[in-house]
Amino acid sequence: MTKSDPKTYRVKSFGCQMNVYDGERMSEMLSDQGMAAAADGENADLVVLNTCHIREKAAEKVYSDIGRLRQADGSTPMIAVAGCVAQAEGAEISRRAPSVDIVVGPQAYHRLPELIDTAKTGRKALDTDMPPASKFDVLPGRKKQPRPTAFLTVQEGCDKFCTYCVVPYTRGAEISRPWSDLVDEAKALVDGGAREITLLGQNVNAWSSEDDKGRIQGLDGLIRALDRIDGLDRIRYTTSHPNDMTDGLIAAHGEVPKLMPYLHLPVQSGSNRILKAMNRSHSRDSYLEILRRVREVRPDIALSGDFIVGFPGESDSDFEETLSIVEETEYAQAFSFKYSPRPGTPAATMDDQIPREIMDERLQRLQALLNKQQMAFNQQTVGRRTTLLLERKGKLDGQLVGKSPWLQSVHVIAPGLSIGDLVEVDIESAGPNSLSGTLVERIAA
Ligand code: 5AD
Ligand code: SF4
Repeated sequence: MTKSDPKTYRVKSFGCQMNVYDGERMSEMLSDQGMAAAADGENADLVVLNTCHIREKAAEKVYSDIGRLRQADGSTPMIAVAGCVAQAEGAEISRRAPSVDIVVGPQAYHRLPELIDTAKTGRKALDTDMPPASKFDVLPGRKKQPRPTAFLTVQEGCDKFCTYCVVPYTRGAEISRPWSDLVDEAKALVDGGAREITLLGQNVNAWSSEDDKGRIQGLDGLIRALDRIDGLDRIRYTTSHPNDMTDGLIAAHGEVPKLMPYLHLPVQSGSNRILKAMNRSHSRDSYLEILRRVREVRPDIALSGDFIVGFPGESDSDFEETLSIVEETEYAQAFSFKYSPRPGTPAATMDDQIPREIMDERLQRLQALLNKQQMAFNQQTVGRRTTLLLERKGKLDGQLVGKSPWLQSVHVIAPGLSIGDLVEVDIESAGPNSLSGTLVERIAA
């Protein structure tokens, strides 16, 4: 059956911030093709589900989401499945969910217009290539952003092959985008209204490229270049691997004023035995040593991490070591997950898979400790005077919500101020997930 020419679209992104970035680029491209973003609550002619494959729950979600796209009269919009589930499952998706018209991987979405043309003829369209020519060379330039914060993907893919992880298979080998493209894109984002840029990559700190003078630069060099862009106030980066925390990048945390005092550095486990089985290629001690050095140059840095509980073979004492590395580190924020076996990864077929009840109990204990640390970190900031970048409206009249340098959400009653303003506040109180402050002054509008 042929599908009518889609006039409106909606892109829904799930999972990591790299997907959010890809979703924005897809939206910009579809607008560039003459389509309009569907208004809130309105059915779209084309729905792109930009999916995540990292854990089973995320990957399975796409099928229930597809089911929900059926409209009251039984018809469905044109449906495209993009992102990492598309890459991992390919044509299997439209076999399992026949209403899916297009399957497109994360390295091929610049070809969406051609895939839409194929789908219009009634044929299924599939593209999970990882072409040597980069999608970034083809996508239209960045548009004005409605938000003061922007993502900028600088690096994609992963060569680390942690034994639990699908990313090396779904996102491919590590590639770094060229220096001048990134400096230009950052300038375009700032011209379009961004005050804060978060540099993104699965291994963002493995980014490396020649600069405009032919010198090899690492992420710290790029951060220092962005620091010189007028109108840009804040720089962040995520996600990093401990092995790529170079001396230069650690030093940048002490030297670059716009680099925010926040570091997301996943460790996954506190047990050397499990880290080895995970193929993490760092130890408990080498991780702690990096954190010590970062704290030396930036004592107020907020530390964040990722943890997996119940990796195959994880004993009670291995888990206790995870709790103890958390005790030792004192995180400001962290993300923790139950191990989820992923098809095709080495850990999925390892002996000694851990029963669900044990995983549940370990996750609860770990999260209780992490929540306590997050609350303690938030409380430490009470009484401080700091900056906020206002990002959205709050629930109360005249209330706005912004992020502190340490990535906390802070509420402030500030009539007359707008989203996008950079303000100074005194932090007055803290809860587990947000804080409140009183306005001192507006620094920049
Ligand atoms: N099971 C559970 N958590 C996982 N992660 C990656 N793969 C898995 C898996 N198979 C977690 C890691 C990673 C974060 C993005 O997701 O903690 O850092
Ligand atoms: Fe996955 Fe490990 Fe690569 Fe991170 S470093 S994306 S956890 S394989």
